[in-house]
Amino acid sequence: MEIIETVSGMKRVCREEARAGKTIGLVPTMGYWHEGHLSLIRAARKRCQVVVVSVFVNPLQFGPQEDYQQYPRDFSRDIRLAKSEGVDYIFHPSAEELYPQSFKTEVEVRELSNTLCGKSRPGHFKGVATVVLKLFNIVRPDAAFFGQKDAQQALIIKRVIDDLDLDVELVILPIIREEDGLAMSSRNLYLNPQERSAAAILYKSLQKARELVRGGERRAPVIISRMKQMIEQEPLARIDYISLTDADNLWEVDSIEGKVLIALAVFIGKTRLIDNLLLDVSGA
Ligand code: PAJ
Repeated sequence: MEIIETVSGMKRVCREEARAGKTIGLVPTMGYWHEGHLSLIRAARKRCQVVVVSVFVNPLQFGPQEDYQQYPRDFSRDIRLAKSEGVDYIFHPSAEELYPQSFKTEVEVRELSNTLCGKSRPGHFKGVATVVLKLFNIVRPDAAFFGQKDAQQALIIKRVIDDLDLDVELVILPIIREEDGLAMSSRNLYLNPQERSAAAILYKSLQKARELVRGGERRAPVIISRMKQMIEQEPLARIDYISLTDADNLWEVDSIEGKVLIALAVFIGKTRLIDNLLLDVSGA
């Protein structure tokens, strides 16, 4: 396992591996790995001959009032995990390495970036799309691995790949959860014990939604209001949004039909958590 900190170094080894005929898999991360990250790394390991994982807390995707400074970091632990998972290269650049003083370009995916999380985090997805496109250009992966946990992010990356004709296969993997259903996230670390148990409400409300749909309910406003009621009973929780959208374009839907994404963001204390559920009710 090799740790590479420069763009030129990362390009050099990736070009050599590609010239040797090897397939390259890329897993972009911000570090502080949990089982969610490891599931992506394992999928990449299975599918590709060379696995590159980036560990970079991307300043461009954090708002001025957000947690860039406090975002959890434990690079030595990530290195240990990388070794035991058979990662070939960790790309670990500094912010100055990826964004030198002269840096001016940003990648904006219109519409998809301005709904759901984009509403409460202006500029966030521009930062994500920009860094991911840079990583794609540096590594030139055959396949890139992302989690359904960040459903909107995955759709935006798909848009970038299609719109800009990139030769990257996008692989989206399911949400890995704690025992009580809480989606794994590096930010769960911020929760104190009371908040940690309150946080289970996100998944519980999604399960409630699934139950309602299974029971025949198709009216989006009814489902949203039942989820809202449930979450509002949790004193530590404050809803940012609950949204039912078409899973392909994130347009809000009035009734459940076809592939629908139920997505929510909820503050538990000061920590903003997200979760989602994909439902396919075609023919149901
Ligand atoms: P980060 O939050 O570190 O997540 C890295 C990848 O892990 C993302 O694709 C995310 O969707 C996936 N992931 C996180 N939690 C997961 C879970 N519980 N189950 C499955 N997958 C999970 O997402 C980012 O970093 C950044 O925005 C990045 C894409 C690296 C760009 O900076």
